[in-house]
Amino acid sequence: MRVVSGIQPTGNLHLGNYLGAIVQWVKMQQEAECLFFLADLHAVTIFNSPDQMRTNVREMAAALIASGVDPDKSVLFNQARVPAHAELAWLLNCTARIGWLNRMTQFKDKAGKNREGMSIGLYAYPVLQAADVLIYQATHVPVGEDQKQHLELARDIAEKFNTDFGTDLFTLPAAMIAGPAARVMSLRDGSAKMSKSDPSDMSRINLTDDADTIAQKIRKAKTDPEPLPATMEELDGRPEARNLVGIYAALSGESVNHVLGHFAGQGFGAFKPALAELAVESLRPITTRYNELREDHAAIDAILVKGAEKAAAKAAPTLKRAYEAMGLFR
Ligand code: TYM
Repeated sequence: MRVVSGIQPTGNLHLGNYLGAIVQWVKMQQEAECLFFLADLHAVTIFNSPDQMRTNVREMAAALIASGVDPDKSVLFNQARVPAHAELAWLLNCTARIGWLNRMTQFKDKAGKNREGMSIGLYAYPVLQAADVLIYQATHVPVGEDQKQHLELARDIAEKFNTDFGTDLFTLPAAMIAGPAARVMSLRDGSAKMSKSDPSDMSRINLTDDADTIAQKIRKAKTDPEPLPATMEELDGRPEARNLVGIYAALSGESVNHVLGHFAGQGFGAFKPALAELAVESLRPITTRYNELREDHAAIDAILVKGAEKAAAKAAPTLKRAYEAMGLFR
């Protein structure tokens, strides 16, 4: 079992990233060989100032470590330090079909009506993501629900490459999408996912928010006037209520039905303070550790450099075989 996953170093780590992906990463590192990276080459598909990029990479690395990603157990690095990702992505650009990329909903969402004005990198983004996992022969990729389509594309690319070149080089990776928080929604709109790019900071809980801010965001979260029901099915058609209950379940480690068993018949006047307390208590140790770590650039850089060396060594054999399979001299 080899686990590989990445996160874009753009803005803060928020509760969606944390519950949808990072909690799984932390769990997996007890059970399997793990590689986790900052997808800085993905982040530059949209313009970021160089200073902002440098800050974001270090801060996201600190946030992951504060969340429990242990650089002694997992290989933690930033993608740009391991050129094999970009190299394999080029080879895979020649396998991936334009028609496949045209179906990617994330590109459509990000480009909106301005498709022609987007970078080629944003369009080819899912091919780089395929390279990220295929280069390490990943078997499992823990991600939130929104990355499912990209992982399916990675499998399609791997399969076509293997068929075209008559090889068994690439392992087909499986997406690991788990738990009640695989898709955490915005606190302001139950139909939009919680996201770093939402202009309203009230829509998300950042792992850097202080206790008062977290409590305020939950107090102001959009809800409905009905009391909570006894079963999950009865939350259908109530996306905001479902989201808050899902967050509670993920933070407490209980099932959604168990949470409802406790709160059935009560309104949000009772539920929200309980959720706020749970969120504050769960995130407090992470925020404390993050604030200790984030200014220590030397320590963070050393961790990422060491991680990149290990990752590069693991990537090299697959890259070599990919060139050979295609008949390229290198
Ligand atoms: P990114 O940086 O948007 O998000 C990192 C991880 O957090 C998950 N996530 C969520 N989960 C639940 N609810 C939400 N509201 C929510 N928002 C984000 C994402 O699903 C993801 O697991 N393209 C990827 C980064 C990437 C990658 C990879 C992932 C690059 N290469 C290879 C896996 C394997 C991205 O932009 O994730």
